Amino acid sequence: MLYCKATAEIAPKKCKKHFFGIKTRFFIFSCQKFYINTCILRIKAMEQTGNRQKNGILYFSSTGNSLFIAKKVQKRFGGDVIYIPAYRGNGGEFEKIFLVTPIYSFGMPAHVYELLPKLDRTAELIVIQNYGGMAGGADRLIYRYARRFGLNVKSVYTLKMPENYTLTFTVPKFYIKSTLKKAERRLNDIFARIENKQYVLPTGTKTKEKLYLKNMANWHLIGERFSVTENCVLCKKCLTVCPSGNIEFSEGKIVFGSRCVACLGCYHRCPQKAIVYNKKRKKDRYVNPDVTESEIGKNL
Ligand SMILES: Cc1cc2nc3c(=O)[nH]c(=O)nc-3n(C[C@H](O)[C@H](O)[C@H](O)COP(=O)(O)O)c2cc1C
Ligand code: SF4
Ligand code: SF4
Repeated sequence: MLYCKATAEIAPKKCKKHFFGIKTRFFIFSCQKFYINTCILRIKAMEQTGNRQKNGILYFSSTGNSLFIAKKVQKRFGGDVIYIPAYRGNGGEFEKIFLVTPIYSFGMPAHVYELLPKLDRTAELIVIQNYGGMAGGADRLIYRYARRFGLNVKSVYTLKMPENYTLTFTVPKFYIKSTLKKAERRLNDIFARIENKQYVLPTGTKTKEKLYLKNMANWHLIGERFSVTENCVLCKKCLTVCPSGNIEFSEGKIVFGSRCVACLGCYHRCPQKAIVYNKKRKKDRYVNPDVTESEIGKNL
């Protein structure tokens, strides 16, 4: 096809003096091709967004606090509750991702740390972290990582829940009760903020990143310090509870490997309290009283 220089319309064959040269025609052809390709890509992107589910609630939890929060999010905003260690996706199927996670060593569990770089960059990300005593800048740290991986992070909220890192001390029951009561109020406040799009992002740069990374590298030692008492009934529940496949049943015994991620799920949820740390026979164990224990680790 030939184009008229004057009108940019297809030129009649006779109009010789207005024909574009070969280079100009090639340029126009390239522009048209680029425009058509862009349109196709846009339509595809719109189709993808249209197919997306609204909310994905990705959670990690060993003693149920984060699951408790995830279920509350589901009740308020809807969406699928998904257990991170069993999840093979990247969140790309959701418009909005709620990432519900405990704080571990002023940072996050290993499974959450590994998930962050894989997460879809277009989905809106809302992080809800919970901790037992001291957040220690974990909100800034997760925000830093989220930005490093180009995630579309909208907000980071933190709330205090009952402590589960209780290998060497005991939290009084009355304190657990009052913490849960306050947490409920704080959660309602967080939900109201989300509804009103009052997003909060951490300010400042102070974190305990070095300590976090050092501790995470040593979490495998926790599993090596566990042992099983004569109270074990070989129900094998601990094998299914463990998010890192670190517990095996071998030669009639429960055996811990070297892949422990220090979640303490086996310790708290063994029905016989048969798993002990450093051979100390402490009696207290914790599971969030507002979730069914068997739901922890499930998709809902
Ligand atoms: C390995 C490990 C490290 C933890 N580190 C912290 C911490 O740095 N600061 C804190 O306040 N709580 C810490 N906690 C407590 C948990 O964040 C808290 O109890 C959380 O609510 C547990 O959530 P879950 O029941 O969903 O597993 C830690 C717990 C574990 C198991
Ligand atoms: S969950 Fe407890 S009782 Fe059951 S096999 Fe494991 S250690 Fe034994
Ligand atoms: S061995 Fe116990 S503490 Fe370690 S990752 Fe498995 S369930 Fe968690």
